[in-house]
Amino acid sequence: MNLFPALEKTYTKEQYSAQQAQRLAEFIAFGPIVFQVARLMIKFGILDMLRDSDEGLTLNEIADKTKLSNYAVKVLMESSLTMGVVLVDKQTDKYTISKVGWFLLNDKLTRVNMDFNQDVNYEGWFHLEEALREGKPEGLKHFGNWPTVYEGLSELPQQVQKSWFAFDHFYSDASFSQALKIVFDNHTKTLLDVGGNTGRWALRCVDYDSKVNVTIMDLPQQLDMMKKNINGKKGAERIDGYAINLLAETNAFPKNKHYDVIWMSQFLDCFNEKEITSILSRGSKIMNDESRLYIMETFWDRQKYETAAFCLTQISLYFTAIANGNSKMYHSQDMQRLVEKAGLEVEKIYDGLGEGHSIMVCKLKK
Ligand SMILES: C[S@@+](CC[C@H](N)C(=O)[O-])C[C@H]1O[C@@H](n2cnc3c(N)ncnc32)[C@H](O)[C@@H]1O
Repeated sequence: MNLFPALEKTYTKEQYSAQQAQRLAEFIAFGPIVFQVARLMIKFGILDMLRDSDEGLTLNEIADKTKLSNYAVKVLMESSLTMGVVLVDKQTDKYTISKVGWFLLNDKLTRVNMDFNQDVNYEGWFHLEEALREGKPEGLKHFGNWPTVYEGLSELPQQVQKSWFAFDHFYSDASFSQALKIVFDNHTKTLLDVGGNTGRWALRCVDYDSKVNVTIMDLPQQLDMMKKNINGKKGAERIDGYAINLLAETNAFPKNKHYDVIWMSQFLDCFNEKEITSILSRGSKIMNDESRLYIMETFWDRQKYETAAFCLTQISLYFTAIANGNSKMYHSQDMQRLVEKAGLEVEKIYDGLGEGHSIMVCKLKK
């Protein structure tokens, strides 16, 4: 298996002493409560208070400020202490925030992941076992009776939608500036944004290039959201929509117009291998030798930091339990294999965009 250097070091050799391994095993065993306590330490404002205090705070001071009982504060603080989120001073019994606590509070990626797990996934994880056995998103059922989360996106409860979009946008938004330079280096005048969602990338494109026309191809429900979102914004008149459900193999890519670029950002991870091959080969039917198909994905094997690979391989299980039951964050070699199976070849891969995206540039196979 190909792995970027930071991952190879961690994943091919044992990293822990027996004591460390046992502690990590217990951390996993208590994972649900570790997660909830950390979340509540933020929600109740305790980590904020600790960060802003000069010498730390006692249990009584925290109870006074939060209006929680001494009992509630004590269980939260003792749990946080042993999980490494806070530190205590032996002389004064005052608590201060640790480095881990600081990351929980201030690292935007951690906050986005935490909200996504709480609001979108937490209840659904309980059905992971059935989802793995059935290949269906069994954890989606408590939200509604859709075959995949994408059909239900526009109807999800407000807080769930908010965390879903914050999660999706956090990753892709961070890469768009670098991606624009790569895509528009090629004199792109027409771009098909497959799975363009609320139109954030399309808006960036029409702002970046005053001549480009963008077609967003997505499910009809998403196109309605997209139209509301782009309404009145600069260049919106050069964005149009093409409603389609790409899960139906008979649904073809638009043939009425030539597209210089087919763009798929965080899109193919919504599909299983067979579906990806079908979508890519349908895309290839509207390409000529000059056209390029760009796949922007967070491939877990191409991460510079091990923490990123950890996050991505855990996010895969959101696809299993909630999104559709059968897709994932892919290894780049798997994606390349599917690209080739669809009659395309990988011309180049750009790495290290934003929060760990790569762009796979594909052209028709010679
Ligand atoms: C994870 S979002 C990616 C959004 C955006 N491209 C980005 O980079 O942030 C996946 C998009 O694919 C769309 N999608 C999922 N299943 C689809 C299907 N069967 N047919 C068409 N679009 C689909 C979703 O509606 C959603 O807009």
